[in-house]
Amino acid sequence: MSELKLPRHIAIIMDGNGRWAKQRLLPRTAGHKVGLDTFVDISDACIEMGIEYLTVYAFSSENWNRSSDEVGALMELMSKGITKYEPELVKRNVKLKLLGDIDRFEPKYRNALLGVQERLSKNDGMTLCICLSYGGRQELVHAFNELIKEGKTEITAEDVERHLYSAGVPDPDLVIRTSGEYRISNFLLWQSAYAEYYFADVYWPDFNKDELIKAIESYNKRERRYGR
Ligand code: FPP
Repeated sequence: MSELKLPRHIAIIMDGNGRWAKQRLLPRTAGHKVGLDTFVDISDACIEMGIEYLTVYAFSSENWNRSSDEVGALMELMSKGITKYEPELVKRNVKLKLLGDIDRFEPKYRNALLGVQERLSKNDGMTLCICLSYGGRQELVHAFNELIKEGKTEITAEDVERHLYSAGVPDPDLVIRTSGEYRISNFLLWQSAYAEYYFADVYWPDFNKDELIKAIESYNKRERRYGR
């Protein structure tokens, strides 16, 4: 492990909670619950390894179209999960950044999540970005609209980057998707322009540190040329 070159920024599409639950004849929410535990384990592993940035896709713009029961359960789980994890994040000097249209969240969930983000804002260890009500296209449209408000008639890539939810965060080096699906699903469209992708065959609740190391080992075998 020690000779592995670590990606500076790992981004993860945590997919397969529903199928994991279905396989066990459990409700989908049971998969999300175990998925939350996996999220905490993988964040801990990244902190221990010295990863500088970890981004996870927790709730997409499209996830609002799921049943209101599932959406409600996810909101509750995510806000409670982060609140419970907060003391550990404080101890480990983790900074939290919420990416997405968080205004769509019910005030009680929004305030809980924004409160944790605020309290961790002075930390300077690993930056944990959680994508909530996030879509890559929506993020770009949001950035373009901000530039229109600034009165711009011509824009540069730097202008767009200033208005991304992830402004200030370096682009991901390695994007991992679990569950054996080979799609980007509207995740970090701009930021992943030169990312390496890794697709794990396990559902998110079964992902663990060994799987993470496999992904980093695969990343180590790639030669990144950035089009050169
Ligand atoms: C995708 O699986 C997973 C989600 C939509 C939810 C992910 C959320 C968590 C793991 C909780 C994380 C919590 C925090 C605080 C970051 P799916 O439901 O699409 O699975 P399927 O494709 O098998 O149906």
